[in-house]
Amino acid sequence: MITAQFPAARLRRTRATEWSRSLHRETVLTPADLIWPVFVTEGEGVEQPIAALPGVSRWSVDLLVQRAREAMELGIPCLALFPNTQPERRSEDGAEALNPDNLMCRALRAIRDELGDGIGLLTDVALDPYTSHGQDGLIDDEGYVVNDRTVEALVGQSLNQARAGADIIAPSDMMDGRIAAIRSALEGEGHINVQIMSYAAKYASAYYGPFRDAVGSRGLLKGNKKTYQMDPANTEEALREVAMDLAEGADTVMVKPGLPYLDVLRRVKERFEVPVFAYQVSGEYALIEAGVAAGVADRDAMVLETLLAFKRAGASGVLTYHAVHAAKLLNG
Ligand code: PBG
Repeated sequence: MITAQFPAARLRRTRATEWSRSLHRETVLTPADLIWPVFVTEGEGVEQPIAALPGVSRWSVDLLVQRAREAMELGIPCLALFPNTQPERRSEDGAEALNPDNLMCRALRAIRDELGDGIGLLTDVALDPYTSHGQDGLIDDEGYVVNDRTVEALVGQSLNQARAGADIIAPSDMMDGRIAAIRSALEGEGHINVQIMSYAAKYASAYYGPFRDAVGSRGLLKGNKKTYQMDPANTEEALREVAMDLAEGADTVMVKPGLPYLDVLRRVKERFEVPVFAYQVSGEYALIEAGVAAGVADRDAMVLETLLAFKRAGASGVLTYHAVHAAKLLNG
């Protein structure tokens, strides 16, 4: 790097005015960088605030369609849908995931009917919103989540979502081999333009608690997810996960959680030069809101600075519960 010495070099020169700061800005954040995760619930005209996620609600399909339109009009390109499945529809094997009329499929069809291709629809693939035990896959007698039979179920879940109109299939389950199996099933059924965004490097994190409340699986989950989600101590393993998922046919990959794993995001971006997304998860959102409530900082500034950090680290986009708020700020 070539740089003059002080005072020939005064780095504050370019920072002196707002026009100059904006001219020299290296990273920009726009609403087009945001994916908005939303929670769907049964009923009509229903809004259920989620205590663990202040400012976030579950909506029935009819209200969700309105929210989707607002997001589209704000310039948010994609929604990520999560169903809150009624306890009576949950089972040991999560078969509701394969029901073509489940809440997720009804929400997909309703948004598609109303908005066409105006907004992208990403669907999570994992059995936890449908199992009575809250694990992401099928369990054996010891409660171990079995890999290969789970992958078969995830293939069925993916096809079910693609048939209902999903644009991006996002497996969040961390089973081995699922990307290849899902890709080949999608091709086999002619869903050639359905994308796969793999939750490639997903860690067994303490930051998912509020989400489990939102989908109704916190009370059900016994134990943890450490036999499939990654150890927070590991980065090389994350690179291997990403390499395998890309080789198996993922279009894009995700690192999750977000802010505590920016180093992983950066290494993935530099190594593979593919679009990488970050999931700013529920616990990260809740921490910001708790900080704001405690007077730690201004919400708007904290939200924008945090989202910009993902872009600076190399993210193509961010899944964030602050998407609508951030988009409004960015649109002025
Ligand atoms: C389900 C899934 C989880 C999240 C996204 N998909 C929870 C988990 O793995 O237990 C977490 C999202 C968040 O915390 O915001 N497989």
